[in-house]
Amino acid sequence: MRNPVMLSAGVLGISHRTLRRVYEAGAGAVVTKSIGAEPRKGFKNPTLVDLGVGVLNAMGLPNPGVKEFVKEVEALKRDGVCVIASVYGFRAEEYAQVAGELCDAGADAVELNYSCPHVSQVGLIGQNPQLVAEVTETVKHSVSKPVYVKLTPNVTDIASVAKAAEEAGADAITAINTVRAMAIDIEFQRPVLSAVYGGLSGPAIKPIALRAVYEIYEAVEIPVIGVGGITSWRDAVEFFLAGASAIQVGTAVYLKGLSIFRQITQGLKRYLERKGCSTIEEIVGKAHKHSSSPK
Ligand SMILES: Cc1cc2nc3c(=O)[nH]c(=O)nc-3n(C[C@H](O)[C@H](O)[C@H](O)COP(=O)(O)O)c2cc1C
Repeated sequence: MRNPVMLSAGVLGISHRTLRRVYEAGAGAVVTKSIGAEPRKGFKNPTLVDLGVGVLNAMGLPNPGVKEFVKEVEALKRDGVCVIASVYGFRAEEYAQVAGELCDAGADAVELNYSCPHVSQVGLIGQNPQLVAEVTETVKHSVSKPVYVKLTPNVTDIASVAKAAEEAGADAITAINTVRAMAIDIEFQRPVLSAVYGGLSGPAIKPIALRAVYEIYEAVEIPVIGVGGITSWRDAVEFFLAGASAIQVGTAVYLKGLSIFRQITQGLKRYLERKGCSTIEEIVGKAHKHSSSPK
């Protein structure tokens, strides 16, 4: 990657033209929308609401299916874009099949989205360390590209889920996906989202994401990719100090436009110069040296 600031999964649709524009705007890599084995329409509207402090969405994983989407990955690779393919499934073999096809199309890495229900529809894959390990191991056996595991914050102990992923062979942990939340319309006296519950993203979740990255950094040896509520270079610095080796930006693209990528990379560069550092690695995890929390 030419820099450690990526577009996070799903926020900007699936077209290779849009994703290429994000790369041209200065992102180090783009993560695609989560792709499954079959096309999926997603939930009916309303699926997204701006709450001011953040954005609440319940899209329902709409996507064209892997057979169609490989064309977008191939087009991105022809344009020299660094692409991380986000993958979801309902069982381990499905994840492995989709990840394999997207890697064959040229994806530089895959990111496994575990924030979807598993087969029995009880909870999410990412809420069960055993399932996380099983899916991760199956995908690792079937692809040769790096495998990132993206975790849901909707668990009691995210560090133990990260540990399970690491032991199963994950190459990096991405944290976090959206926080389970809802909104109610007081005039219609009903939930705003058609799916009732959704995922909260944006500034409101930054402290939660930062805490997750901090805890995961203490639990695993593999790199951590921080995501959740980053809207400025200052937010980005906090994530690196908490232990992230790279970061992703999602909702801030809605809030601030594509210029957010250069704002963050340039702000980071100036911060490193001011602190007398020549690489970002020099600040990764630095906040831990000053903490009294047990290692
Ligand atoms: C509209 C929307 C769609 C999203 N779609 C996906 C997705 O397809 N796969 C995924 O792993 N995460 C998805 N996410 C979660 C983001 O990638 C990210 O983890 C989350 O929004 C927190 O980061 P942010 O506060 O910078 O947006 C989506 C988020 C939003 C707002």
